[in-house]
Amino acid sequence: MQTVGKLMKVFVTRRIPQEGMKILSTAGVCEVCLWDSDEPVPREDLLKGVQEAHGLLCMLSDKIDAEVLDAAGPNLKVISTLSVGFDHLAINEIKKRGIRVGYTPDVLTDATAELTVALLLATARRLPEGVEEVKNGGWSSWKPLWLCGYGLSGSTVGVIGLGRIGMAIARRLMPFGVKRLLYSGRTAKACAAEVNGEFVPLDTLVSESDFVVVSCSLTPETQGLCDKAFFSKMKNTAVFVNSSRGAVVNQEDLYKALSSGEIAAAGLDVTTPEPLPTDHPLLTLKNCVVLPHIGSATYSTRGVMGALSAQNLLAGLQGTDMPSELTF
Ligand code: NDP
Ligand code: DGY
Repeated sequence: MQTVGKLMKVFVTRRIPQEGMKILSTAGVCEVCLWDSDEPVPREDLLKGVQEAHGLLCMLSDKIDAEVLDAAGPNLKVISTLSVGFDHLAINEIKKRGIRVGYTPDVLTDATAELTVALLLATARRLPEGVEEVKNGGWSSWKPLWLCGYGLSGSTVGVIGLGRIGMAIARRLMPFGVKRLLYSGRTAKACAAEVNGEFVPLDTLVSESDFVVVSCSLTPETQGLCDKAFFSKMKNTAVFVNSSRGAVVNQEDLYKALSSGEIAAAGLDVTTPEPLPTDHPLLTLKNCVVLPHIGSATYSTRGVMGALSAQNLLAGLQGTDMPSELTF
């Protein structure tokens, strides 16, 4: 573990973009204890590293629960996560202790929407399969019936969770000639008018969509939402895409739906667990495209996320307004 600087202690659970590190190390208000690795901090080291910390800068893969908060002790004023998703944080425990939380909404919306569209197209038009065939000699000729997929033109797209990212996905998909844009969630959205979005019950979305895109947050209500019953309502020709959290999907049910032809294909940027074991059944399927959770992974986006998470942390330490504070 590397220590730089002085004063209030902050524990940073991973190497972060230098834009963020620079802000922390030049602020002159904190001593930074860094888990100096690109790999996750082991639980034991997290519990040790957080002791007596005033601030914690964590990743979406660090489970911050009562045990971690107890290990930190009463100094802890602020948790800043380098993510917009906060399902890894035990919010009730955090709230009980009066700890403030910073996160990184908005700054990753474009990058994540762009990746989701790329994943949708790669899955629907079978790009990984095509690339593989070129490499392995399977490309014998131009063939009328070979490697056909599904196009967006004239299609119905269903977005589950028309939040910041869901809306950015919808905006990007409409120019491909999408005919109907359905969405579901807890509340109808005024911004949906921009994409002629129709607020519909989940069942309607699932059964009428040619492309089902999941972009909701992971909550107790959305956990396991995409299960056997869900996939059985989808069209046999429909493509399923998830860039939210792996736990929204029951992966056994997805495997069955994909291998039996109940649905056409799936593109996943997120899985349970992460990483997905290399011998996982989903990875044996040609009609399943799995990416390693890279939605927000552009150099500039990660730099801005790093800077924002550092600014949130400093504001929490100093008791000032955070650029992006989670209200709960
Ligand atoms: P928002 O809070 O803006 O959007 C979340 C959406 O989820 C809201 O529209 C909300 O709808 C919806 N939602 C909540 N509960 C339900 C439900 N029961 N059924 C359907 N929809 C529901 O967040 P963002 O758009 O910024 O981010 C969304 C998620 O994307 C993050 O929580 C994170 O998990 C994931 N993410 C993944 C990335 C990746 O790398 N793959 C990158 C960034 C984010 P309502 O407003 O009606 O409550
Ligand atoms: C998030 O921010 O929640 C993503 O999953 C990673 O950027």
